[in-house]
Amino acid sequence: MSIAYFNGDYLPLDQVRISPLDRGFLFGDSVYEVIPSYAGEFFLLPEHLERLARSLEAIRIPNPFAPAEWTALLTDLLVRNADPATPDLGVYLQVTRGVAPRDHAFPADARPTVLAMASPIRPLPEAVRVEGVAAVTAEDCRWERCDIKATTLLANVLNRQEAMERGAVEAVLLRDGKLTEGAASNVFVVLDGRVITPPLDASVLPGVTRWRVLELARELGYPVEERGVSADELARAGEIWLTSSTREILPVTRLDDHAVGAGLPGPVWQAVHAAYQAAKPGAQVRTPMQSGGSA
Ligand SMILES: Cc1ncc(COP(=O)(O)O)c(C=O)c1O
Repeated sequence: MSIAYFNGDYLPLDQVRISPLDRGFLFGDSVYEVIPSYAGEFFLLPEHLERLARSLEAIRIPNPFAPAEWTALLTDLLVRNADPATPDLGVYLQVTRGVAPRDHAFPADARPTVLAMASPIRPLPEAVRVEGVAAVTAEDCRWERCDIKATTLLANVLNRQEAMERGAVEAVLLRDGKLTEGAASNVFVVLDGRVITPPLDASVLPGVTRWRVLELARELGYPVEERGVSADELARAGEIWLTSSTREILPVTRLDDHAVGAGLPGPVWQAVHAAYQAAKPGAQVRTPMQSGGSA
């Protein structure tokens, strides 16, 4: 049983007891993060903690810890969950507004509830590296503050379920004819050799992986653009990628009923994926199989 952190204690996950009056449970009044670690070391932790601080501030929950305290707490959690069979762990952490009698307005004196738990990150399967994945387009019917990493994810859940039922791994969302992001990922397209992703506004989450992928693409010398992407451009893209902390960079080779580009993971994905693998902690001890191979 994995060990969780819950309001000051470390305990087996199945012993965590959350009040039915917790506002995270009743209202989805909470925010979260998912932070990857490789070979016992966090990847891009300061960036995740910064986004957490922004999400908390946006919904006016006081941040219960300073960055150094979060780092100590989460590192302790990693150590307690260390297992050579699963060296790469994703830490899910959630902060709710706390426990209070049910009323929509903020309670006067609730203390934030803090939960963190770890689960294995599996290496990219060989089949995905060779063949890519399928995605489907769907209408983005989420709220207007998708820049906040809130746990209120019902629309995302329904979109992802629809994708699964249509034989795909992700729903790629369109709002007013423009690409926003995936149900649980940011989306990149490659068009005429240019790496393009929608700009950061309230319709997309400022993904930490998105940020790192943009940096790597620039370092590799690709022209990079953060701009609106139309449904037509999405349909014409030579490559489409999904980025997130646990799925890293997934090459989409089928969108709805058509092949993307040549129907195989493209050359720009190969290069950026290889650079991403090389940037991860412990990359030098990883085997080519685990890292998804070289480009
Ligand atoms: C809606 C949404 N967009 C983007 C992302 C990617 O964010 P990150 O790269 O920080 O994991 C996620 C991650 O879960 C997400 O849920």
